[in-house]
Amino acid sequence: MKPVIVLNLKAYRESTGDAALRLCEIASEVSLVSGVRIIVAPQAVDLRACARVCEVFAQHSDAMDAGAFTGSITPNALKDANALGSLLNHSEKRMPHETIGKTVAALREAGLQSLVCSKDDEESAQVAAFAPDFIAVEPPELIGSGISVSNAKPQVVIKSVEAVQRVAKVPVLCGAGISNAEDVKKAIGLGANGVLLASAYVKSEDPKKLLAEMAGAMG
Ligand code: G3P
Repeated sequence: MKPVIVLNLKAYRESTGDAALRLCEIASEVSLVSGVRIIVAPQAVDLRACARVCEVFAQHSDAMDAGAFTGSITPNALKDANALGSLLNHSEKRMPHETIGKTVAALREAGLQSLVCSKDDEESAQVAAFAPDFIAVEPPELIGSGISVSNAKPQVVIKSVEAVQRVAKVPVLCGAGISNAEDVKKAIGLGANGVLLASAYVKSEDPKKLLAEMAGAMG
């Protein structure tokens, strides 16, 4: 599978509303020029507008059908907003194990993809049993630190890739602290199928340059 870059916009001020749209436009431009698949995960309220510009995933989804489920982000609503999938079980939005499985299935049923986050190789192998479309391993202590997982914890990436491949053919991304093209290159070198990042892109003074360099480092 060709490597992917997933940009999680989280709930930063710098990536809300019009700012989210601008970051999506940049992602679309860089993807077109580089040929690298770039998926952006804006906040739920920005999804529909951002989906007009680039490939989008939600940051979270609930395995609810349409109906009386206040506050839920349903797969049907995501589909209607033209999202292509959803992140699940992000470190900042952890889900019980069985709920992850149900939600992967509900998304698939709606024709949507899922990217399940894990904290280490053990959890990567556990969630691989649900056969999501992607798994992203992110050691929580490195998230937002600027210290990249590919530098600080390469073994977590290597072991996650191995552990997942023993269970299912699911591409494994890595994230946490990914800050520059060198971090991306190292991640790919460790066997990752791509990267998941947030703060370096959202807070960059020149996000287009940064993303173009990262896409160029995908090999
Ligand atoms: O989902 C991406 C994430 O948790 C990593 O965040 O800011 O370290 O790139 P960051």
